[in-house]
Amino acid sequence: MTGLTDRVALVTGAARGVGSTIAQTLADAGAEVILSDVLVAEGEEAAAEIGGSASFAKLDVTQETDWENVVAATLKRVGRIDILVNNAAVLHLGTLENTPPDVFRRVLEVNTVGPYLGTRAVLGAMKSQGAGSIVHVASIDGLVGMNGVSAYASSKFGVRGLSKSSSLELGRSGIRVNSVCPAGGNPEMYGPWYSKLADIADQTEAYNNNRSLPGTVEYQAIANAVLYLASDASAGVTGIDLPVDGGATAGKFIEGFNSL
Ligand SMILES: NC(=O)c1ccc[n+]([C@@H]2O[C@H](COP(=O)([O-])OP(=O)(O)OC[C@H]3O[C@@H](n4cnc5c(N)ncnc54)[C@H](O)[C@@H]3O)[C@@H](O)[C@H]2O)c1
Repeated sequence: MTGLTDRVALVTGAARGVGSTIAQTLADAGAEVILSDVLVAEGEEAAAEIGGSASFAKLDVTQETDWENVVAATLKRVGRIDILVNNAAVLHLGTLENTPPDVFRRVLEVNTVGPYLGTRAVLGAMKSQGAGSIVHVASIDGLVGMNGVSAYASSKFGVRGLSKSSSLELGRSGIRVNSVCPAGGNPEMYGPWYSKLADIADQTEAYNNNRSLPGTVEYQAIANAVLYLASDASAGVTGIDLPVDGGATAGKFIEGFNSL
């Protein structure tokens, strides 16, 4: 049921990290995958590693014309788009006071406006096919708030709103829209904050361990959830947020309570 033979999938932010694992996973399931990213060399390399019919297209998710060009080229070449995975995103770590307006806007632009533009770009093709699956990669930070991530959390709560509302608008056209909410991904995303986080490693470790399944989630587990939502295995499932968070949103863990 998770087979994707004859399906065409477009994955954003696929040059590295979770996105490239998603692309590989969809390709392994039989899909023709178009990897896209602003990182051209890495994206081409990731597509070459997948091999087969996988290809790379440069796509900045904030640019409407990039979306138009990639969708038009895909339709011209293969005639359809069955799956869109809105995975590309940027992170900003900082309290509200340390988040200037231009940074806040930029995070929303990539993480929320990007998926909105992507959804609009593939709508025509999916509507004429009478079928399609759009999967947004949100975050645990789109399910619960956390200090130091106001911009990022706002963008990920926003994409969940986009997901739910568009699922209602598009379901009657045979298009399903869902979100995956991971806890964990590529540490490269932490960029300039990586060394600062290392200074508070004990706190981040405690945070990661306060879960039903302690630690961070493997890329493959996130990609498997995307595959489920992209494929017919999830027929009838739309408008959901699927946490892939090791139970982080299940509640709080109190070590001593396990011995009561
Ligand atoms: N890294 C984590 O800990 C974590 C946790 C929860 C959720 N996520 C989510 O998982 C997804 C994948 O992130 P990742 O962990 O692989 O991090 P990553 O930084 O490796 O991947 C993000 C990708 O998006 C690309 N990108 C950034 N801006 C872009 C733009 N304007 N247009 C096109 N591509 C752009 C980057 O070049 C990069 O390849 C993201 O949606 C992220 O928010 C990550």
